[in-house]
Amino acid sequence: MDFKLSEEHLMIQQAARDFAQTELLPGVIERDTHQKFPLAQVKKMGELGFMGMMVDTKYNGAGLDTISYVLAMEEISKVDASASVCMSVNNSLVCWGVESFGTEGQKMRYLTKLATAEWIGAFCLSEPEAGSDATSQRTTAEDKGDHYLLNGTKNWITNGNTADVYLVVAQTDKEKGHKGINALIVEKSWPGVTVGKKEDKMGIRGSDTHSIMFQDVKVPKENRLGEEGFGFKFAMKTLDGGRIGIASQALGIASGALELSVKYAKERKAFGKEIMHHQAIAFKLADMALEIEAARWLCLHAAWLKDQHLPYGQASAMAKLHASRTAMNVTTEAVQVHGGYGYVKEYHVERLMRDAKITQIYEGTSEIQKLVISRNILS
Ligand code: CAA
Repeated sequence: MDFKLSEEHLMIQQAARDFAQTELLPGVIERDTHQKFPLAQVKKMGELGFMGMMVDTKYNGAGLDTISYVLAMEEISKVDASASVCMSVNNSLVCWGVESFGTEGQKMRYLTKLATAEWIGAFCLSEPEAGSDATSQRTTAEDKGDHYLLNGTKNWITNGNTADVYLVVAQTDKEKGHKGINALIVEKSWPGVTVGKKEDKMGIRGSDTHSIMFQDVKVPKENRLGEEGFGFKFAMKTLDGGRIGIASQALGIASGALELSVKYAKERKAFGKEIMHHQAIAFKLADMALEIEAARWLCLHAAWLKDQHLPYGQASAMAKLHASRTAMNVTTEAVQVHGGYGYVKEYHVERLMRDAKITQIYEGTSEIQKLVISRNILS
C-alpha cells in the first residue's frame, strides 16, 4: 500500500493550483453575481489538458489516470466550482461515456474535439419527472429504421447552452422498461434542438444550467452509444464515475473553505489575540480538517479502484456522500469562523457555502448514494 503521490501527480496538482489562482480567481465573484459562464477559462483548461484528462492521447486526451483527475478537480473547485462542474461533466460523463462505449467513428468525430474543449459536452438524463428515478424517461427516441426520432424535454442540464454535443438518454420501447432505453449523441446545431430556460440558481451560478427541448430531431442510428437498449446501463455506469468527479468537486469546495478559514484565523484579532489562539476556533478548524482528510481518501480510493479496473460503484457513492456532506458542514463552519465577513461576497466563503449545496443534489441525491451503498453491502 502506497499513500505517496508520484512526482507526476504532484506536478499536475501544482499546475491545477496555479491555473486556479491565476486564471479563475480573478473575476470569480463577478461571474457568480452575473451568472456568467467562464468560457475563456474553460477553453484554456482544454488547451492544458484538463477537459479530457483520462482520454487516450490518440483522441487528443491527456492520457492521465483518475487520481490525477481527482487532484486537479480539488484544486479547480477550491476556487471556482462553476468551472469545475463543467470540467467534471465533460471529463467523467461525456468523454468517458464516448470513449468507453462509442464506436471508432464516434470517437474520431466527437471525442477528439471534446477532449480539448474545442467542443463542450453535456449529459441529458434528468427530466421534469425523472431525476433520481432514471427509468421513468418521458423523452422518446422512436425507431424509424435508419434513424431515431427524438422528442422530449431534459431539465437541469449542466453546460446546457455552452455545449456543442449532448448525450441524450431516451425511451425507445416503453414495454421493455429499462431495457428499452437508448443513449444517443446529438449535436446542438441539428434541426429541432432548442435551448430552453436558464435556471437562476442558489450556487454554481457561473455554470449554465438549462432545459433542452428536442422536437422531431432525426438522430442517425450510428449515433447510438452501445447496443440497442443499453441506454439505462450506459447512464448508470457513467454516473458511477461521475460521482468521483462530483465528490472531488465537493472536496475542493471544502478544502478551499478551510484554507480561507485558516488564513483568516491567523490574521483576525479578537480579545487581544489572533482568533486561531482561541480554542473555539482552533477546534472548529481541527474538525473541518478531519472531515476533509476522510473525504480526500475516499475520493482517491474510488479513483484508484477505477484505475485498477476493480469495481468502484460503491466506493464512488461513498466518496460522493461523505464529500458532499463535508462540503456543506465545512463551508457552514467557514462562514461562522469568518463571522460577519463570512456573510459578504468579498471573503468567498458565502459563495462556497452556496456552491456546496448542489453537491448533495446532482449525480444522485445523498439518498440515492445511500441506496447504492446499501444495495451493495446487502447483496
Ligand atoms: N452499473 C451497471 N449496471 C447497473 C448499475 C450500475 N451502477 N445500476 C443498475 N444497473 C443495472 C442493474 O443491474 C439492472 O440490470 P438487469 O435488469 O440486467 O439486472 C438495471 O440496471 C436496473 O437496475 P435497478 O433495478 O437497480 O435500477 P433502479 O431503477 O432501481 O435504479 C438507482 C437504481 C441507483 C436509483 C438509479 O436510478 C440512480 O442512480 N438514479 C440517480 C440518477 C441520477 O444520478 N440522476 C442525476 C442526473 S445526472 C447529473 O446530475 C449530471 C449533471 O449535470 C451534474
